[in-house]
This record gives sequence, C-alpha cells and structure tokens, in this order.
Amino acid sequence: MHHFFYKDGELFCEDVSLKKIASEVGTPCYIYSHATLTHHFRVFDGSFDAVPHIICFAVKANSNIGVLHVLGKLGAGADIVSGGELYRARKAGIPADRIVYSGVGKTIEEIDYALGEGILMFNIESSQELKVINERAGALGTKAPIAIRVNPDVDPRTHPYISTGMKKNKFGIDVDLALEEYRRAMELEHVEIVGVDCHIGSQLTELPPFVDALRRLKVLIERLHDIGISIRYLDLGGGLGIPYSDEKPPHPSEYAEALLHELKGVPYTLIFEPGRVIAGNAGILLTRILYIKETPLKKFLIVDAAMNDLIRPSLYGAYHHIQPVEIDGSRGEEIVDIVGPICETSDFLARDRKLQKCNSGEYLAVMSAGAYGFTMSSNYNSRPRAAEVLVKGDKYEVVRQRESWEDLVRLERIPTF
Ligand code: LLP
Repeated sequence: MHHFFYKDGELFCEDVSLKKIASEVGTPCYIYSHATLTHHFRVFDGSFDAVPHIICFAVKANSNIGVLHVLGKLGAGADIVSGGELYRARKAGIPADRIVYSGVGKTIEEIDYALGEGILMFNIESSQELKVINERAGALGTKAPIAIRVNPDVDPRTHPYISTGMKKNKFGIDVDLALEEYRRAMELEHVEIVGVDCHIGSQLTELPPFVDALRRLKVLIERLHDIGISIRYLDLGGGLGIPYSDEKPPHPSEYAEALLHELKGVPYTLIFEPGRVIAGNAGILLTRILYIKETPLKKFLIVDAAMNDLIRPSLYGAYHHIQPVEIDGSRGEEIVDIVGPICETSDFLARDRKLQKCNSGEYLAVMSAGAYGFTMSSNYNSRPRAAEVLVKGDKYEVVRQRESWEDLVRLERIPTF
C-alpha cells in the first residue's frame, strides 16, 4: 500500500505532482510519503496491540532525520548499528530508552556513547564484545543492559547477501552456545541481562522461518529460566518483506498472529526491528531521461540516477518497478534497459523492461525505493548524492539538500609536501 498514484495521467505523491517537485528540486531525488510511512507504522504497531511491545525502526533502512522524526512521533523506537545511527535517532527526537543497538563490530567510542545516552539494550554478538561492554560500563560507573543476539540457524529463504540467522553467517551467537554465554554474562558485574534477541534476515516472504526461529528462542528462554534468568524483552528483529514485483509477503497482522500464537500469553515486552516494511514502499527515486540510445542489440534509456543513488539492482539483482511520471496510452510500449551515467556495466536500474515509449527529458519513478535506497548511496564517480523530499498532503519539504561539487571535496586537502 502506498500513496503514489496517477491523477489525469500524471503521477502524484499524495497531493503533490512529481513533475512539480522535479522542476523545483531537480533530479535525481528521493521522495517519501508521510501518509504511507504513517500508515505502515500504524498497521505494524497495531498488529501487536494485544501485547506489550516496542517497534524499533531499523535506521539503516532510511536514516533521514525527517523520516525518523515522523516515526518517532508515532511512538517508534530505533534499532541502530552504529554511533552515527544513534546520533541520528537522538537528533530526530527518539528517546534513548527506546533504542536497541545491534551489530557485530561496536567500537569502544560507540559503546561509551550508547552507555552515556542510556539506551534500552545492547544486542551482544560475540563473547569478546560482551567482555568489552562489561569493562566499559564498569569504567563509566554504570551497568549495561544486554540481550544476546542468538543465531538460531534457520534458513530465511531470501537473497544470500541478506540472510543473517544461519550458522555460516557472522551474526549472533550460536543457539547451542548461547546458554553458556548467558551464564558468563551472569558472572559479570557491570552488565544486566534484560533480553534475548534474534534477527534472521531481510525481505522474508514466508512465515515459517520466523516461527522456527521463535521456537528455538523459546527453548532457550526456558533454559534461562531454569538457571535463574528471567528476561524482560524478547527482540524478534525485523525482516518482513514487501512486494517489489509479484511477491506476496504476509501482512503484518498475519505475521503478528503467527508469532503471538506461538508465544501464547507473553510475560515480557516484545521488540521488533522492522525497516523495509515501514519505509520501502513509502519512497521512490525520481529520475530524468537524459538520452535515448539504440544499439544493434538494445535500446537504452540513460537516466540521471545511477547505481550510486540506488545500488540494489546492481548489488542484489533486485527488481524495482519503474513507471513514467506521465502516462500516455497511445504511445505503445517497448523493451528497454534503464541505465545510469556511471562507468560500469553493472550500472543499471532495470534490464529488458517493458515500458511505455518515452522521450528524453521525461521523468521516471523508480518505485519501492524508500528503504535501503538513499542510505546505501555513495559518491562513486564523484556524483553528488541526491536530494530527499518528504511530502505531506499538498505540501512538500526538502529534508536533505542535494550535495554540491563543493561538498564532494569538503573534507579533503592537498598535502603540504
Ligand atoms: N535488525 C537488524 C539487526 C538488521 O540487521 C536489519 C537489516 C533489520 C533489523 C531490518 O530488516 P528489514 O526489516 O528492513 O528487513 N541492503 C539490503 C537489506 C539489508 C538488511 C540488513 N539488516 C537490501 O537492500 O535489501
């Protein structure tokens, strides 16, 4: 569900014409819908109304502070994986006691920052990290609230680059070794065990892997109980998929039903870390056709957005629906490759795609780009990063300016030698 639709043949975001944004802000440009973000958050949150829960939005999916602020006002917490994400979440007004911190490589500087802010909990990913967090909490005269991120060894049946809960992945602590790790944590003076955590992967389109993981966690929680550990939080991570093309992922209410059925009477607060399902279909990447080029084999639409703006097609072979901002049924369709200006063959947004016949100068909308779009963008080929716009009703605001050429070299210097 989203709020990008045609009115009289022209694509709008809520009540704002995309052509208007393109002419005033320029392209390439990310555009997010306030109404879609709000709807998605409320639906997900509302699906767990029956039990105590906190929805910690995965900041990595979309870290613009304008977007985080919208979600924070709806009651979202944050799932962070770096000091930078903590900084953004706090800047956006998300309270520290609704922030969970995952990630296999937390540095001392980041740990100290999070301890100082008083976050809800650290999701521990290794024995060494547990030791360091205990030491840092001791040094700062505080106690670190922790959960162990358990690697339950389930196959999420998603793209291998985004599966995280299998034995061969770098994430979490093996489910069979977790009990031992909790025992060690019990002995530590400066940590307080508050939870159990897991996150098995992203863009999951089926429920069984989530349920399998939960079953394994339940066994662990029982064992913890036997050794005198009772937890306050069960963090089940993120991962629920969205329809990019013809996938049919479960609705958040079906996801909730499956998990709550398995949990029956939950004596702790559930935490979820959704990213994509909240932001994915709430954003598009707007781009302009620069040139049309025909070779003996192909027709290329060369657009002003590239793999540096949206890397998902190049990196994962991901599908993003692409539609013209103005539709004209009389023009007919053709098969094209939609490519960017970057000097790599992997710089494509779509290949062999059926699209309405278009002319240079016209605009295209790359759909479902609100998650892992801007956040994964780079300056490759010294391309300034795109602007980001948030639309609400008939208003829009630029929530991140387009970078300039000057910005590209701002932190660099020519050495004195
Ligand atoms: N929690 C943790 C610990 C995570 O690592 C992730 C995503 C999430 C939550 C949120 O997952 P979501 O609900 O968004 O599926 N760049 C890839 C996705 C990488 C996901 C990494 N972790 C992509 O563009 O598909």
